[in-house]
Amino acid sequence: MDWSGGYVSDINYISGFYREIAPGYLSFVARLRGEPAPDPARPFRYAELGCGQGLGTNLLAAANPHAEFVGIDFLPGQIANARDQAAAAGLGNVTFHEASFAEAADWPAAALEPFDYITLHGIYAWVSPANRQAIVRFIERWLKPGGLVYVSYNAMPGWAGVLPFQRLLREHAARHPGRSDEQVQSGLAFLQRLREAGLAYFDRHPAAPAKLDGLGDIAREATYLAHEYLNSAAQPLYFTDVVADLAPAKLDYVGSADLVENYDVLSLPEAARAALEEVADPHYRELLRDYAVNRVFRRDIFIKGSRRGTTAQQDAALLETSLAPLLTRSEMTPVFHTNLGELTGQARIYEPLMDRLARGTTTLGALREATGIELAALIQACTVLVATGQAHPAQPVADAGPARRLAKLLAARILDDEPHGHLPAPAIGSGVAASDTEIVALSALLDGVPPRARRLAEAVWARFRPVGRRMLRDGEVLESERENLRELQQRAGAILRERLPVWQGLGLLDAGDDRRSG
Ligand SMILES: C[S@@+](CC[C@H](N)C(=O)[O-])C[C@H]1O[C@@H](n2cnc3c(N)ncnc32)[C@H](O)[C@@H]1O
Repeated sequence: MDWSGGYVSDINYISGFYREIAPGYLSFVARLRGEPAPDPARPFRYAELGCGQGLGTNLLAAANPHAEFVGIDFLPGQIANARDQAAAAGLGNVTFHEASFAEAADWPAAALEPFDYITLHGIYAWVSPANRQAIVRFIERWLKPGGLVYVSYNAMPGWAGVLPFQRLLREHAARHPGRSDEQVQSGLAFLQRLREAGLAYFDRHPAAPAKLDGLGDIAREATYLAHEYLNSAAQPLYFTDVVADLAPAKLDYVGSADLVENYDVLSLPEAARAALEEVADPHYRELLRDYAVNRVFRRDIFIKGSRRGTTAQQDAALLETSLAPLLTRSEMTPVFHTNLGELTGQARIYEPLMDRLARGTTTLGALREATGIELAALIQACTVLVATGQAHPAQPVADAGPARRLAKLLAARILDDEPHGHLPAPAIGSGVAASDTEIVALSALLDGVPPRARRLAEAVWARFRPVGRRMLRDGEVLESERENLRELQQRAGAILRERLPVWQGLGLLDAGDDRRSG
């Protein structure tokens, strides 16, 4: 298609949410890196470029009713879906534009007010150089001084061995006309046969067979795979090239949204740390870190105008930051995984931290007072707890209504849509992971179903049964009503014990509900 610049435009992309695009998360990372970031508790403006189906922008709009959101994407079907979802949930603070990056970059000055945050996930390495320039122009024109940008991309050198793999898929597609998702499926099947035939490429570049082995259910993921591999301009990027691209928009690199990546000690092998010690240039060093771990994907945060304060100012900003628990105490763990394998945080630090955090939202300052842990260790442990999804930067809840309405809409649509995987969470201004059953259970609780396992199981079943949704146990579909209800009752018990207190803390449900699970 002429208007798509070589981008796959015959099928809509999957609906997804990625926590790194949340304003509170981005500001937290910026603060950890010493930058005075926008305060997500105050009114702000936010744009998502390439917002796809709009689920991410809508979740954020629902969870941040005090802020204004704009989503831009050039696929009309996606923008129609995004608008429909926003309207059905009654979200008044989000606008979607069907526009290409080039069009949006050239809008008249009065078309938009400047933004505190501009994010683009899964965009920058998938579009042409001209489109990348349009994105930079958009940022240059519409990011406020002090504003943050999040950009993710396929990275070099990790992609080096996969490039010929991607090339073959595109060559195959060019010779097999059809819908993109069908082209990618037949292309991957052909590549599999080539691998079995012993083509040397697959032997000499282990990343290629690893890709094939890691593909999972190709038919189910064909939409994602088509957008990942068939875009004619898609190209993995070197970190230093991205820094140079963004310089005209006056952007300075802040750090990685993959939080542990910002700590050499947590992410680089000891020998690599030693080898990199003599490298002073921070951008060159960051590039070398990508070589050290053969990085395939980057999630970068930039700021328009770095202004790192004194250490005292940086510490003060962090100590005021609040964290909310995303898990109950029994689910929390000091064990986490990085490039270095499995690591375990020191019990003397993590145990008291997790004990206090599990009791509810608290500031880092209060955590320090309650635990007496020295500041640097406290900050590193809190970083790990956020990185591992056990806690999240928190903000006051002004109005939980929009988030609850969107949650109920997602529950209603889950039954005929692809899974959404997340709920809006106003106390963190972001989305939290949730299974279909959990989303429908929350909706039932919002409808006033009493928090008893049996009643909740019956309510979820009443929503699942008419649309043919069945529970699974050990991968097997449960057919009879009795089995489904028994399974659901177990799940409902766990939801009431583990999710309900977290949802209350996140503003999704009112506190003080009866938690009996009988
Ligand atoms: C891989 S998808 C990512 C969608 C979403 N950000 C996510 O992570 O789920 C890339 C998105 O960029 C959009 N896109 C690609 N090229 C574009 C262009 N030149 N102008 C506007 N949108 C574009 C596509 O329509 C698609 O929705």
